[in-house]
Amino acid sequence: MEQTIRVELSTTKKEKPKTDQLEFGRTFTDHMFVMEYSDPLGWHNAEILPYQPLMVDPSSMIFHYGQSVFEGLKAYLTPDGDAQLFRPERNLQRLNRSNDRLCIPPIDEKFALKAIKQLVALEKDWIPSTEGTSLYIRPFIISTEPYLGVAPSRHYKFIVILSPVGAYYKEGINPVKIAVENQYVRAVVGGTGEAKTGGNYASSLKAQEVSAKEGYAQVLWLDGVEKKYIEEVGSMNVFFKINGEVVTPALNGSILEGVTRNSVIQLLKHWNIPVVERKISIDELHQAYKDGLLEEAFGAGTAAVISPIGQLTWNLEHLVINNGNTGELSKNIYDTLTNIQYGKEKDPFNWIEKV
Ligand code: COI
Repeated sequence: MEQTIRVELSTTKKEKPKTDQLEFGRTFTDHMFVMEYSDPLGWHNAEILPYQPLMVDPSSMIFHYGQSVFEGLKAYLTPDGDAQLFRPERNLQRLNRSNDRLCIPPIDEKFALKAIKQLVALEKDWIPSTEGTSLYIRPFIISTEPYLGVAPSRHYKFIVILSPVGAYYKEGINPVKIAVENQYVRAVVGGTGEAKTGGNYASSLKAQEVSAKEGYAQVLWLDGVEKKYIEEVGSMNVFFKINGEVVTPALNGSILEGVTRNSVIQLLKHWNIPVVERKISIDELHQAYKDGLLEEAFGAGTAAVISPIGQLTWNLEHLVINNGNTGELSKNIYDTLTNIQYGKEKDPFNWIEKV
């Protein structure tokens, strides 16, 4: 029997931020969704509650061993004022793949989608309408059993919070500068790189901090074994247009399988633009640059959308791509993807889920 969602409405309404000053992930809406898991009951007690701090025991396992997973997707407002989601089922499938890797019990994807839609519908007024803005949806699961032994927790909370957002990078939709990381590694095959779990992001902070001081938006991670093959940026997957062909690193177990990544590949195939998923080494990319064949580079992610890469720095050498400007292909992908997301263009792929 499907669970019901108890709703407790907030008695106060927060002031909404000005939509032209939206930072990524700083403001949260009036309500959140919470559901609990305990052994042997399973997932139960689904509620939409006023947004509020959590009461969790300090011995909760999440604080000690980091057993948690999260997702990121967005709700968009169409010109007709309807709210819609972009491929939410893929995020929920990935959440369950991450759950499996982190020994967290699976959630019912259909029910989770229903809960997200109900929460977004309740918070529809929070979806900003200024160009480039949306309502970021952050589902996450934390392990809450009060226990200090290293083992899968027997209690969890599945929570969904919402945040009106603008561009993820301060550069907005303009090209970003990325440094190729050659000291630290993000993930190795067999590790947790393809799961969306907090630890991957915690371990990326050091490299990011160092490169941010030097003016880079993010770092580009190489594989964790040979430090030779390009993997991802951490907040986005990467694509390179080399001599007319688009290349993106093949999924290898340590790269996150991005929903936007998959959508870009589908879009390129639909346009008959050659696209391949394969191993690509930083040396090969460097050579392509020297030969004048590296035409464009861009990142793709839910938060980052399509983010052109204007400069890649590798071993102190600055590879300036397309003169530091947004390339035509990156712009076309950005426009088509966002037009579909905002309901301004037909969706031939069936990507849109109405709220
Ligand atoms: C997303 O794009 O939704 C992500 O989860 C990336 C995050 C680091 C902001």
